Amino acid sequence: MIKLKEIYKYYDAKLQRTFILKDINLEIKEGEFVSIMGPSGAGKSTLLNIIGLLDEPSEGEYHFYDESMAKIKEKKKVEYHRNHIGFIFQAYHLIEEMTVYENIETPLIYKGVKNKERKAIVADLLDRFNMVAKKDLFPTQLSGGQQQLVGIARAIAGKPKLLLADEPTGNLHTTQGRMIMELLKTLNNEGMTIIQVTHNQEFAKYGNRIINLVDGLVEDSKVEKTEAINI
Ligand SMILES: Nc1ncnc2c1ncn2[C@@H]1O[C@H](COP(=O)(O)OP(=O)(O)O)[C@@H](O)[C@H]1O
Ligand SMILES: [Mg+2]
Repeated sequence: MIKLKEIYKYYDAKLQRTFILKDINLEIKEGEFVSIMGPSGAGKSTLLNIIGLLDEPSEGEYHFYDESMAKIKEKKKVEYHRNHIGFIFQAYHLIEEMTVYENIETPLIYKGVKNKERKAIVADLLDRFNMVAKKDLFPTQLSGGQQQLVGIARAIAGKPKLLLADEPTGNLHTTQGRMIMELLKTLNNEGMTIIQVTHNQEFAKYGNRIINLVDGLVEDSKVEKTEAINI
């Protein structure tokens, strides 16, 4: 599904080139649940943005569904964002002028989901996230954690094939965070490919693979599933 080959990302200042990502080689198959970890500033958001077609590498090849993304047309990008890729942003990026309900509903309108089905999907998500009473509020009237939940609801509403989640639980309590991880696990079991960035060791293990990004370089490992022991 995702193939990154010798990906570099850098920014040039007057006399200096700053490398954010260095020689990233990565393949992610459909159905995987990958956790990306690494210190702040390691390039995790940059990598996720490149995979999600929100940013472009300085060098290297990115193939999405075996198609090169190097010269992809804007129209095709919009199509991918509308129908295939869900994004949970680190900084939420909710639409301030829209209510909670409208924020969650909007991507479904773009996707062409019918009114009745949209209502059912949004109602279910509001219920699941305990936000029914907040549905007519605007993002600025919510706590950080509540905004994060709206961002998650919006991203998964259209059941994208690929979900990119940039620290989706960063502002949630542990119990809420676990609820979100269980939800992601269920979505993954239903076939959604998920790539999440997390600082939480416990949450990283919900994935089947952990990628450590250190100084723009990748270290890859499989999550060992320990058998439950019944005493
Ligand atoms: N437009 C930019 N120009 C220069 N440096 C940038 C730009 N965007 C991000 N960076 C730098 O890239 C590094 C990696 O950022 P980021 O991908 O957000 O890291 P992470 O998500 O792992 O914390 C940071 O040091 C950040 O300051
Ligand atoms: Mg980040």
